[in-house]
Amino acid sequence: MELNMKTSTSQSNLKTTKADAVAVFLYEDKKIFEQQITELKKLLKPQIEKITELESFKGKAGSVASAYTDLRIASTRIILVGLGEQKKITLESYRKAAAIAAKTAKTLRVKKLAMMFPKLPGGFKETVEDIAQSIGEGAILSQYKFNKYITPKKEDKDRISELTIFTDEDSSLKLISNGLKFASIISDGVILARNLVNAPASEIYPQTLAEVAIKSAKRYGYKATVWNKNKIKQNKFAGLLAVSLGSIRPPRFIILEYKPANAKHDTIVLVGKGITFDSGGISLKSSANMSDMKMDMSGAAAVIGTFEAASRLKLAVNLIGLIPATENMPSGSAMKPGDIITHYGGKTSEVDNTDAEGRLILADALAYAHKYKPTAVIDLATLTSAVVVALGHHATAVLGNDEELISKLKAAGEKTYERMWQLPMFDEYAKQIKSDIADIKNMGSRGAGTITAAMFLKKFIKTKKGKEYKWAHLDIAGTAIMDESNDYTQKGGSGVGVRLLIEFLKNFCI
Ligand code: BES
Ligand code: ZN
Ligand code: ZN
Repeated sequence: MELNMKTSTSQSNLKTTKADAVAVFLYEDKKIFEQQITELKKLLKPQIEKITELESFKGKAGSVASAYTDLRIASTRIILVGLGEQKKITLESYRKAAAIAAKTAKTLRVKKLAMMFPKLPGGFKETVEDIAQSIGEGAILSQYKFNKYITPKKEDKDRISELTIFTDEDSSLKLISNGLKFASIISDGVILARNLVNAPASEIYPQTLAEVAIKSAKRYGYKATVWNKNKIKQNKFAGLLAVSLGSIRPPRFIILEYKPANAKHDTIVLVGKGITFDSGGISLKSSANMSDMKMDMSGAAAVIGTFEAASRLKLAVNLIGLIPATENMPSGSAMKPGDIITHYGGKTSEVDNTDAEGRLILADALAYAHKYKPTAVIDLATLTSAVVVALGHHATAVLGNDEELISKLKAAGEKTYERMWQLPMFDEYAKQIKSDIADIKNMGSRGAGTITAAMFLKKFIKTKKGKEYKWAHLDIAGTAIMDESNDYTQKGGSGVGVRLLIEFLKNFCI
């Protein structure tokens, strides 16, 4: 759950660094590999021979091998991790390799793990800071497991508790330390989001989701305001109210504000879909995999995780977070197909299918967002199953009305490996969600489900003067939960959005 891993940086070398295990990263290119091995053999000849000859370790990406050092150096074990060929190296190579090293360390019950900062390929365009950040993220996030409900607790004891990155280069020390600090804080944000997504709907419902936001805000010095059902009614958030009608748990609207003294005048608004359980409502989903729908608040989780990290990192940008939160349940009092909603701001929508509830609650929040005179609004939502069909679990769909904003988000996606793929918003798609009796209908005819959902949202992004504010919509239905574990993501909640948004906001500040 919470990792509480201590991180540090030190100026030392392979011989003197004292830890339970020391990890060394190696490139695969034959000449470079040989040079690196020769260096290592100066200290640990028999051990390295065993690894390269018996285990035939060649530095391939994803490969790993370990040995006892027989205390020829200060650390007890050595772990060699392959990075692959230099011309293919990206930040993700370091993230993955660090995750593999840390996972191996965990299996070996290593408590204190040291990592030797790698020499960089010639002409490599990424900074030392970003590489250190990637190494830190990979190592830290690889240790996560959602084990809150597993008894008896033993998993926690096996995790590595201390991570050190060392270098003998004086000039890199500060940069590595900065990168590692970023990694540690951002990973905490990702883990907060993962925990929220993985928690069952009996634990995380609108009220408790709001309490998590309030607690985080108090702890890290940003502001959280929570509207109860009455306040939501007074403010005419009719989409949020309508979706909540079938549930015995009242809705909440959560407003987060982070306004640092050093911020420029720009304001970014982040909107997160906070459906704490999506049964489909009267248009009930089938029971297969319905339990996954506890994750329908992943957008909200990403927004809270991002606020926590942004405030701890003291990013110089004004942030507003808007989270409409409710369950979507069937009952005698539930919203029905055919109902018509008058949203905040006055636009109306016809409810064709109560399972297309995300857009109904986002409509109020997006219409409300204009009040903050935003430089840009970014919403994150597990909005459509169509995006899972189109992109699976390895890309988030991005749609919006501003190419520059979208390309900045895509660039942050490449860097963090929370990759995105843009879908078009041609006017013609709007026809699919035309209603005969209201301004718009909440379900389109067959085809392009992710696009028609975004076309619905687009209807609500108007400023007072009728112009659209700059907006991007991220459909994270496929990327918010993973169906299998990987190097630094586990099966279940991925915490997608936090690393991406922090990277995007970091560049926005400069
Ligand atoms: N929360 C779901 C989308 C979803 C599906 C998220 C699978 C994660 C995994 C959303 O509220 C929904 O049910 N969308 C419907 C819309 C349709 C009825 C127009 C969908 O995509 O099937
Ligand atoms: Zn739904
Ligand atoms: Zn939903």
